[in-house]
This record gives sequence, C-alpha cells and structure tokens, in this order.
Amino acid sequence: MTIFHYFFGNDKQRSKFIFNLIAPLYGKIDNAISEDYISICKSLNSKLDLSKYSILDIGTGTGAWITAIAKHSSKKVVGTDFSQKMIDQARIKHPEFEFVLSDGENLNSFADNSFDIVTASFVLHGMKKKERTAVLLEMKRVAIKYVFIHDFHKKTALFVRVLEFFERSDYINFKKYFTSELKEVFNNTYIIEADNGNAIYIGQIN
Ligand SMILES: C[S@@+](CC[C@H](N)C(=O)[O-])C[C@H]1O[C@@H](n2cnc3c(N)ncnc32)[C@H](O)[C@@H]1O
Repeated sequence: MTIFHYFFGNDKQRSKFIFNLIAPLYGKIDNAISEDYISICKSLNSKLDLSKYSILDIGTGTGAWITAIAKHSSKKVVGTDFSQKMIDQARIKHPEFEFVLSDGENLNSFADNSFDIVTASFVLHGMKKKERTAVLLEMKRVAIKYVFIHDFHKKTALFVRVLEFFERSDYINFKKYFTSELKEVFNNTYIIEADNGNAIYIGQIN
C-alpha cells in the first residue's frame, strides 16, 4: 500500500495504508488506552465469567484489547489483523500470544465455531455498513457463544473526532445505527456501557 492508496484507493486500501503507516507509533501509545480497556473488561468479567472461554480478537492492532480481555481467560487467545505492520508490532510487544494476518471480512484461517468468544475493539466503526455486516457475519461463523464489539457509544471526545475525520471512518453512522445492525445478525443482543464514550455491544449465539 502506498500514499496513492490513501487518496485514490478504495476504503479498505486507504485504511490498510493508514494502519500500516501508524503501526510503530500505535505500539508506543496504546499503553495510554490500556487503563480504560482493563476497566471495561473487569466490568464485563463481573457480568460474564470469561475464565472458561477461548478468545479470537479481530483487528487486534498492537494488542491492547487482547491483553485486557485475556487477563480473565485461561484458555486459548489469538489476535488477527489485516495490517502486517500491526501484526509485527503485536508480536514484539506480546510474544505470549499468537497473532495471525487475516482480513476480518474473510476469516478463512479459522474454522466455523472454533472460539467461544470472537471480539473486535475499535475496528467496526472504521468501515461502512456493508463491510461491517460482512465482518459481523464472519465473527458469528467462527464464534461458539458470543461476539463482543468494543467501540464508540454516545459522546466522542473532540480529538478523537479529528482523528476519525482524517481516517475518514464511518463512526457517526456507527453510533447511530450499530445497535440495530447488530440485531439484524443476532437474536439476543446486550450493551455494557462504559462512562467514557465506549461500550461493549454483545451478540449472543443461540
Ligand atoms: C483503531 S485500531 C484498534 C486496534 C485494537 N483493536 C485496539 O483496540 O487497540 C483498528 C485496527 O483494525 C485493523 N483493521 C481494520 N480493518 C480491518 C479488517 N477488515 N480486517 C482486519 N483488521 C482490520 C487495523 O489494521 C487496526 O489495527
């Protein structure tokens, strides 16, 4: 991916270019978000005992979310991302986990019903509804029990809005419509809200 893809490529090419570009920096600053991640995972674990569940994390980045959620699980934990540079950074930072290069829209490295929980943190707001639904359906295919989407909810801080503008993400529509999009894919859905403009949207497999 080159700068050409940022200006003239499709949404996915632009997104991959940006994430490959920022991966080394992201690996250095993701400690700043870890506190919030640890806190919401603690709240999640108090509602739903995560210790017996294997976990697959989609769009794992440099591993902040997988680290927070894996604190509560004693089972297999794997991270995937479509950015090779993010995977490289994640492997350096977290040699304790397995990381696999994979596109969330096509998780063909993973069999049907192969992880108890399939999760994604701050990934789905970055894509349009069509791609979001494709990723959700793939997550549902691979999951045995739950799909967890950790992402924006309600009010978003100004500096984040600026970043989302440059990423040209779909976060505004995500916040408006994601709850109903989730209901199109799962019969049972729940939300665990954090107090900082984030939430975990849960789809339960029947
Ligand atoms: C904002 S970062 C979040 C990283 C990490 N989940 C976290 O919460 O710290 C979004 C990540 O999703 C990845 N991503 C975006 N679209 C993807 C796709 N279609 N398949 C796999 N990964 C994707 C990007 O490469 C990037 O690492």
